[in-house]
Amino acid sequence: MRKSLYIKSAPYYDIVVDSKVIAKSAKFISKLLSRFNVKSVLELGCGTGLYFIPLKKDKFDIEGLDLSQSMLKEARKKSKTIKLYKKDMSTFKINKKYDAIICLNSSLLALPNFQLIKKTIKNISKHLKEEGIMILCLPNHSKEIKESNNERSEETHKITGGILKSICFSHKKGNKWIEEWHGTVKKGNKSYKFKDVFEEFIFSPKELETFLKITGFEILKIYGSRTGGNFNNKNSYRRVYLCKKQ
Ligand SMILES: C[S@@+](CC[C@H](N)C(=O)[O-])C[C@H]1O[C@@H](n2cnc3c(N)ncnc32)[C@H](O)[C@@H]1O
Repeated sequence: MRKSLYIKSAPYYDIVVDSKVIAKSAKFISKLLSRFNVKSVLELGCGTGLYFIPLKKDKFDIEGLDLSQSMLKEARKKSKTIKLYKKDMSTFKINKKYDAIICLNSSLLALPNFQLIKKTIKNISKHLKEEGIMILCLPNHSKEIKESNNERSEETHKITGGILKSICFSHKKGNKWIEEWHGTVKKGNKSYKFKDVFEEFIFSPKELETFLKITGFEILKIYGSRTGGNFNNKNSYRRVYLCKKQ
C-alpha cells in the first residue's frame, strides 16, 4: 500500500484539522508572500487545498500539486478553476516559472529519504524565477518526538448525517515519525472504518540548511510556528523556512 497519500481518509481530512490554526497560518503565509510582491504561487503537496481560498482571496494566483488523487478530488471541491497537477513533487515538470513555491505542513517529509528531498529542492529551484521565494513548513522533530512518542489521541466530530470517531497514534520507528490514523464513520446503523498512515522522514536540520545554501537558496528566516514567531529549538513545534533563490 502506498503510504502518506491519505487515500481512504481524504474526505475526512478537513474535519480533523484545526481550522482556526489553518486560517491564521494562511494569513501568515499571505503576509510573507506580499512582502516580496509575489503573484504566482505553486503549492507542493497541497492536499485538500486548505490554503487555496484564503490565498486566492488575497489575490495570489495559486496552483496546487499533489500525488494523491483522493486529496486532489477534495481540493477540486474548493475551486473549479484553480489549476491542479497530479504529480510527484520530486519529479514534476511544469513549463512555467513561479514567483513563489510553498510546501506546507510537513508535505516535503512524505518523501521517504533525503536524496528525494534534495531532488525536490533542486526541482523547486528550476521552477522559481530569479529571486523567487520558497517557504517550507516542517516540524521540529526534536521537540515533537520527545513530547509525543507513543501518544494516542481520540476525538469525535459531527459530520453530515452522523459522527466520525478518529484515533491518531504517533510513534518513531528508525528514521520515520509515523502517524497512524484510524477512523470510524457512523451514519444511522451503518458504520465504515478506515486506516491511513502518514510517514514523515526525520530530517537533519543542519544537513537541510547546508543543502539549501549549496543549491543557491538564502535562508532569510526560520519561524517557530505555522503562524510565525522566532524559532527556538526548545520551545518551537515547527521550523518554517523562508528562503530566497539567489
Ligand atoms: C500532511 S498532508 C499536507 C497537505 C496540505 N499541505 C495541508 O497543509 O493541509 C501531505 C500531503 O502531501 C502529499 N504527498 C505525499 N507525497 C507526495 C509526493 N511525492 N508528491 C506530491 N505530493 C505528495 C499527500 O498526498 C498529502 O496531500
